[in-house]
Amino acid sequence: MGRIVDVIQSRRSVRTFENRSLTSEDRAYVEQVIQSIETPFGVPVGFRLLDAAEHGLKSPVIVGACDYVAAKVERVQGAELSLGFAFETFCLRAAERGIGTVMLAASLSRKSFEKAMEVNPDEVMPVASPVGYPATKMSLREGMMRKAIKSDERLPFSQVFFDDSFGSPLSLDQAGRFAEPLQMLRLAPSATNKQPWRAVVDGDAVHFFEEHSLKESALGDIQKVDMGIALSHFWLTTQEQGLEGRFATCDLAIIAPEDVEYVTSFVAAR
Ligand SMILES: Cc1cc2nc3c(=O)[nH]c(=O)nc-3n(C[C@H](O)[C@H](O)[C@H](O)COP(=O)(O)O)c2cc1C
Repeated sequence: MGRIVDVIQSRRSVRTFENRSLTSEDRAYVEQVIQSIETPFGVPVGFRLLDAAEHGLKSPVIVGACDYVAAKVERVQGAELSLGFAFETFCLRAAERGIGTVMLAASLSRKSFEKAMEVNPDEVMPVASPVGYPATKMSLREGMMRKAIKSDERLPFSQVFFDDSFGSPLSLDQAGRFAEPLQMLRLAPSATNKQPWRAVVDGDAVHFFEEHSLKESALGDIQKVDMGIALSHFWLTTQEQGLEGRFATCDLAIIAPEDVEYVTSFVAAR
């Protein structure tokens, strides 16, 4: 893998493609990546690479995609977190090879995707993504969507990350060895770019929280998928910088604002 921080910084969602299938080498690459992804949250994620024409897969926001990747999980504790983590790990590995992706939760012909994925009632398929070669020019619609939801912007570091408590904004300097993983987390993609992640740095630990700003649906909590995505950015960066640690559930005394839910913590080795 190239430098993950470079991949994270150059990634963006791709909705306009060159209208050709993946080459056989790239198909093999995608298959290999989706079969080998592991997550620290313990729920297995089932991926498939699907031919759009064969399965009648469509999206009103996508132009020129011939292939899709979709993923499903059992409806159990930690499902969305695992799925987001695994799916974003795949998207970053794809971006590294010049293959464009965009997670789609709403803008897809859901019935045909679920059929192609053989989703059982005890399973959920929160997102799927086209996989293909980014066109040199994005469609008018894609450009307008990006502007409307301010896809190129992110909330300021000190507005989402805190020092010891939610009342005390964290500066980059105060973040110390967590600065780079948190900077990379901040660049994560999220549903309608809501950026639900919040984090409190507390000694050797970083506690992660979800700010609920979208309603839950029958598909579960899509912002938990966002949290899994964010944690993959954080985790992959710690791995690259050799910062040892693990995810754990901590017994916290931190008082969180309304609608802000504790998710998990990263505890660094001393
Ligand atoms: C869980 C999730 C669901 C998404 N669902 C859709 C969708 O249904 N339609 C769409 O056009 N974009 C969707 N997106 C893409 C986001 O709008 C995009 O990631 C965000 O605006 C940030 O832009 P960027 O990925 O280019 O950084 C989704 C992203 C995530 C993470």
